[in-house]
Amino acid sequence: MQPASRIREIGEFKTLEQFIIERQLEVSESTGSFSRLLRDISVAAKLVNWHMRRAGIVDVFGQTGEINVQGEVQQIMDALAHKEFVRALKRGGECCLIGSEEHSEAIPMRTSIDTGRYIVLLDPLDGSSNIEVNVSVGTIFSIYQMPDDVSEPTLESALQPGTRQVAAGYVVYGSSTMLVYTTGHGVNGFTLDPAIGEFLLTHPEIKTPRTGKMYSVNEGNYNSFEQGLKEHIKWMQHEDSDSGRPLGTRYIGSFVADFHRNLLKGGLYIYPATHKNPEGKLRLMYEANPLAMIVEEAGGAASTGAGRVLDVVPTKLHQRVPVYIGCVDMVRTAESFLRGELRYP
Ligand code: AHG
Ligand code: MN
Ligand code: MN
Repeated sequence: MQPASRIREIGEFKTLEQFIIERQLEVSESTGSFSRLLRDISVAAKLVNWHMRRAGIVDVFGQTGEINVQGEVQQIMDALAHKEFVRALKRGGECCLIGSEEHSEAIPMRTSIDTGRYIVLLDPLDGSSNIEVNVSVGTIFSIYQMPDDVSEPTLESALQPGTRQVAAGYVVYGSSTMLVYTTGHGVNGFTLDPAIGEFLLTHPEIKTPRTGKMYSVNEGNYNSFEQGLKEHIKWMQHEDSDSGRPLGTRYIGSFVADFHRNLLKGGLYIYPATHKNPEGKLRLMYEANPLAMIVEEAGGAASTGAGRVLDVVPTKLHQRVPVYIGCVDMVRTAESFLRGELRYP
């Protein structure tokens, strides 16, 4: 008989702050600036979490009446999350430029760069249409450094390919609240202990399986998918017990929550080009790139269908991109169907 697993005491876990300080040299500086930046992000995440946990009690459900730069209805919580992150980053002083899904322009933090040379691009609240119905939502962030030869924080300085991210992460506000991040040296996950208000290292060195049993796509859009994807989906649904098919479908409609589940359990998330969104729906700079960096660090892959997400050279802050992300074998199979190398039936 298996021995019952021992319940760990809170004091046994490393806190996010301890972990960040231990690892700060990974981002090639020893001034503590990056540690402070991550701490500012984690403070904002705790504040958003606090708003979220009270959302049914105080009146923060519903819409602001604004349409955001994406042409989407802005929820009150979208605006609140944006405000908390901008405020925390401004106060911290390590960030010189913010790009947010909820703001049309890049937001400079000061006119010239003295100390803070980090650029933070973020989706303050991902999956916001799910808030009212108590379904997991999240925050996604991507961190770059100002290029050395640039002295003013401009939009152009933020338009760097995903390969240049110095760190990326997300927070899932779910049945528990977790912060997961990477600096390019492994992926680590921290669970918020609400009793002491600390993120604790509960998921060290996350690795995603090579393949999985779930795929995630909004199949309501099936008729507007390209032929290769239609065949791929029918192939995943085909019964073949030797290869573990049919696969199951899981689709929450919060990218970050679908991604988090697939990262831990194995799976493939797809948001392809559709008639309504011919360039895909997800935003390159603050949805696709950060999660692509994380998945690659965890041993998975992220593709636009035509190439690596992280290699896309951005031209716009709010650029959209088709996304195939998850277990490496599943992403490669999807690409083979899209290229017509695999066919079904
Ligand atoms: P956001 O709430 O930040 O606008 O993102 C919504 C995104 C993403 O989270 C999700 O996977 C996708 O939109 C769902 O889109 P569909 O409703 O078209 O499936
Ligand atoms: Mn989003
Ligand atoms: Mn959002």
